[in-house]
Amino acid sequence: MKVSRRGAISPFYVMEVMKAAAAREASGQDIVHLEVGQPSTGAPGAVREAAAHAIGIDHLGYTDSCGIPELRTAIARHYRDYYGVRIPAERIVVTTGSSGAFLLSFLACMDAGDRIAIAEPGYPAYRNILASLDIEAVGVPTGEETAFQPTPELLEKVEGPLAALLVATPANPTGTMIDTEAMRDLISYCDGRNMRLIVDEIYHGITYNGPAVTAASLSDRVIVINSFSKYFCMTGWRLGWMVVPEDLHNSIECLAQNHFISAPTHSQLGAIAAFDCIDELEENVERYRKNREILLRELPKAGLDRMAPADGAFYIYADVSRLTNDSIEFCKRMLAETGIAATPGTDFDPVRGHQHVRFSFAGMPEEMEEAARRLKEWLA
Ligand SMILES: Cc1ncc(COP(=O)(O)O)c(C=O)c1O
Repeated sequence: MKVSRRGAISPFYVMEVMKAAAAREASGQDIVHLEVGQPSTGAPGAVREAAAHAIGIDHLGYTDSCGIPELRTAIARHYRDYYGVRIPAERIVVTTGSSGAFLLSFLACMDAGDRIAIAEPGYPAYRNILASLDIEAVGVPTGEETAFQPTPELLEKVEGPLAALLVATPANPTGTMIDTEAMRDLISYCDGRNMRLIVDEIYHGITYNGPAVTAASLSDRVIVINSFSKYFCMTGWRLGWMVVPEDLHNSIECLAQNHFISAPTHSQLGAIAAFDCIDELEENVERYRKNREILLRELPKAGLDRMAPADGAFYIYADVSRLTNDSIEFCKRMLAETGIAATPGTDFDPVRGHQHVRFSFAGMPEEMEEAARRLKEWLA
């Protein structure tokens, strides 16, 4: 029987690494986890309490497809309080993680056969979701010169028509950010060519050299995507949101109704409290900052001195070309010989990723110290 061509998308290699690390752990090896792309702490206390309370008293039926009004209002208030920008709650659509938001935005603004530019390296699911929708992801190779972000100059080199551009700030795996001026340039580039601009802001809040600028403060034509997964430490709650341009609202609502009906109700009821937990969440960011400092200080001592700036998120994307031309084999060997689990760059960049490794520093400072110690010994 038929198996579809569009279902034949690439796996997430990081999942393979996690499986291999878990198997070694089960057989007694002491593993340092630098592969996982999620906070090592759970949701804030008030969120858990609110969700538990809701489970006790609410019948947890479907909600409005765009999200419960209180949550949409709380998110709109967050834009006002955190960024100083007024976004009407009607423009906020609550989604099943940012992953759900990507699906909705891709479906709403592109047809099969359309082409969208994405940065290489970048988050692998973009490419894979797009492939499953028969939308062509056009990789824009980026490097240190542009902080691993697309620029109008790089986009000019792309041959053929583009319907859209997708960027992430801070980005995964590099942690690099797009500042106000660069974002303005991208907005006017896209406006000038009738291209949609989709901005993944899922790592907002986790920044080390000043806050990130939201594209929603610069244009109401941009599709902004965010999530409760990272800053709010709610990966498993499967909750995200998007700020949608007016002309897409109707189709995004209909797509959300049909694809998801609504995002998880208990998660939505819990998430309303998330914006009152900033002090608790900032403690996590302080821990990531400490972890980042440890790795930025120690990795060069192990010979890993070429890495992306890591201005935000919790990843270090290190160039390992002096050590290997095969980051998959390198990561396997590193796991077997040192017990350090990290992700090969091939997940993020099919072309140059075999010379890169992503280290996640979402864990604890002791783990970073231990990883650095093992790496220095291994690579001595
Ligand atoms: C850049 C980026 N965008 C989106 C996601 C998806 O997150 P979620 O669906 O949990 O919101 C991730 C997850 O790691 C990510 O790194």
